Amino acid sequence: MAVQQETAVSVQELKIVPVAGLIGAEVRGVKLSADLDPAIVRVIRDAWLNYKVLFFREQHHLDDAGQEALATLFGSPVAHPTVPIKDGTTYVLELNSAGHGGRADSWHTDVTFVDAYPQASILRAIVVPAAGGDTVWANTAAAYESLPAELKELADRLWALHSNDYDYAAKRPKAAEGELQRQRDVFTSTLYETEHPVVHVHPETGERHLLLGHFVKKILGVTSSQSAQLFSLLQEHVIRLEHTVRWRWQPGDVAIWDNRATQHYAINDYGDQHRVVRRVTVDGGVPVGIDGRRSVTRKKQKKQSAD
Ligand SMILES: [Fe+2]
Repeated sequence: MAVQQETAVSVQELKIVPVAGLIGAEVRGVKLSADLDPAIVRVIRDAWLNYKVLFFREQHHLDDAGQEALATLFGSPVAHPTVPIKDGTTYVLELNSAGHGGRADSWHTDVTFVDAYPQASILRAIVVPAAGGDTVWANTAAAYESLPAELKELADRLWALHSNDYDYAAKRPKAAEGELQRQRDVFTSTLYETEHPVVHVHPETGERHLLLGHFVKKILGVTSSQSAQLFSLLQEHVIRLEHTVRWRWQPGDVAIWDNRATQHYAINDYGDQHRVVRRVTVDGGVPVGIDGRRSVTRKKQKKQSAD
């Protein structure tokens, strides 16, 4: 069939081009869909584990349903635990700069306030500013590996409390007050608190990763002042430019990242320009620390409606 010939891609046609030195690669020569040849899927999955975030240009053929179907190549799609999904979809989270909470301009790993947070996030660019609105990812395995041995030993023993009830204003100083309040109301309709090891072992690669980001409420077992200093010491290390890759979006781009191996940050430098991206996440497992202890959710509490 002509259509099949047009969409078929051989492993030979597929090109993986690294974008930065320690994280990120662009995959060329593939039209993403749920029907990809298993050999192609294997190559993409291996590259995904290796490079932590993959970029695909010109995926204009994908619609919301196509993006949801694509996610099944990585596992079971899962909706956000508190933010309503986009109308007419089952799993799509729309981040719209003109809407509520559409600017993720602080460093985080998606949904770490629950124990089994998503293993993969798939982001599709719909509307892109003429300039600005790039996203940056940091490789949390490279960050762990580049710590001095003494700090590795310290981090290895630490645990942190992650919550969706974190200090939004402190983490997003550029955001408008009304936007922050709306974001907080929607985002915390159910309150979660989860304890994660600061260093977790990747279930597929065996690599050790620093697990931090803006959902961290405190480092456990130390004073609040010590917690703030330890968090900043390790978090600042994660986001050193050497550990990062920055992507200049075009409409039709798709980024797929290993959410167990990265943090990301959407740069809020585009003012009133419109930016719309849509995300589908893939269910993940419960992280495991280097001593074999697993993360645990301590609180899951529904709040009264804020309206
Ligand atoms: Fe995110």
